[in-house]
Amino acid sequence: MTSPADSPFLLACRNRPADRVPVWFMRQAGRSLPEYRALREKHGMFDIICTPELAAEVTMQPVRRLGVDAAIFFSDIVVPLKAIGVDVELKAGVGPVINPPFRTAADLDRLRPLEPGDVPYVAETVRILLGELHVPLIGFAGAPFTLASYLVEGGPSRTYARTKALMYGEPDTWTELLSALADITSAFLRVQVEAGASAVQLFDSWAGALGPDDYQRYVLPASAEVFDGLADLGVPSIHFGVNTGELLPLMADAGADVVGVDWRVPIDVARERLGAGVAVQGNLDPAVCLSPWTAVEAKVRDILDRNARRPGHIFNLGHGVLPETDPQVLRRIVDLVHALG
Ligand code: CP3
Repeated sequence: MTSPADSPFLLACRNRPADRVPVWFMRQAGRSLPEYRALREKHGMFDIICTPELAAEVTMQPVRRLGVDAAIFFSDIVVPLKAIGVDVELKAGVGPVINPPFRTAADLDRLRPLEPGDVPYVAETVRILLGELHVPLIGFAGAPFTLASYLVEGGPSRTYARTKALMYGEPDTWTELLSALADITSAFLRVQVEAGASAVQLFDSWAGALGPDDYQRYVLPASAEVFDGLADLGVPSIHFGVNTGELLPLMADAGADVVGVDWRVPIDVARERLGAGVAVQGNLDPAVCLSPWTAVEAKVRDILDRNARRPGHIFNLGHGVLPETDPQVLRRIVDLVHALG
């Protein structure tokens, strides 16, 4: 077996040449897999996350079936919030719901620092996985802005209007909220890495709701705090968001080694915006996976052609796997990327 440091995934994270283009899929574990759905019929989402044997099993499912080059720790971005006592529910087909939402400075009292003892199942799940995996394990967390958007909106949002109202209307409260979330996120990632995760991904899924000036002023400092807080651990970091074409260089400035790119920006354009020192991850439109194979193949080839064999490319989707995706298509994508790259 390849030792993790020489694995194509970790070499690509370091922007170094590898003998193939590594590939994994955001949301590779989950409802697209029948074996996941079967387990979910018997157990709740948080039960799986908090039971190390189950969380490890679900993490392994896509690795076995799809032949991907990395595993992603099975959890959710709201887990650290729940672990410190925030009332959060995962509503099927909707996403995280927080009741009541965070709206004023007084709500800051509902957050406290995360201690490793709040999430004992995390280190235990990672420990089980290290014994089974032959590919690197990615730890992950939600970024301060994306977590704040769920707390303030009380659930998913299209406009982020209440989040922005707090950000512009009460900048001091906003700064305190993001700083508290940065501490929680950083602590949650640290637990995963200290237990043995080889890389981390920070999901700022909804940061693309902001323009570059506001991102730089209201969000970047807190995300940079997360990456700074992990620097001593020496593992590579990935920074991802949707609709972030205009934010890509700032997302690299926050301190990540790899920047995730969605399908709205061609990967060669993204690389130009980021410069040669930054690795990229992406960027197949997840909806393409529901199209005929000839269309999928053309898109995969186009992404690889645009990267033109430059080191530092991790093949992925531009956002998570859609639940209705046929896992056989994902398997064929992995095989095609490996054959071509
Ligand atoms: O394979 C993996 O990627 C690992 C697991 C993972 C989950 N959530 C499990 C999950 C990861 C990396 C996440 C991250 C996550 N969670 C993000 C960032 C990634 C992104 O998509 O932008 C966000 C925004 C969330 C919040 C969240 N949690 C949403 C939007 C949903 C889906 C709601 C739904 O039912 O459609 C969840 C629930 C969730 N998290 C599921 C899974 C497998 C589905 C739960 C189920 O089994 O019912």
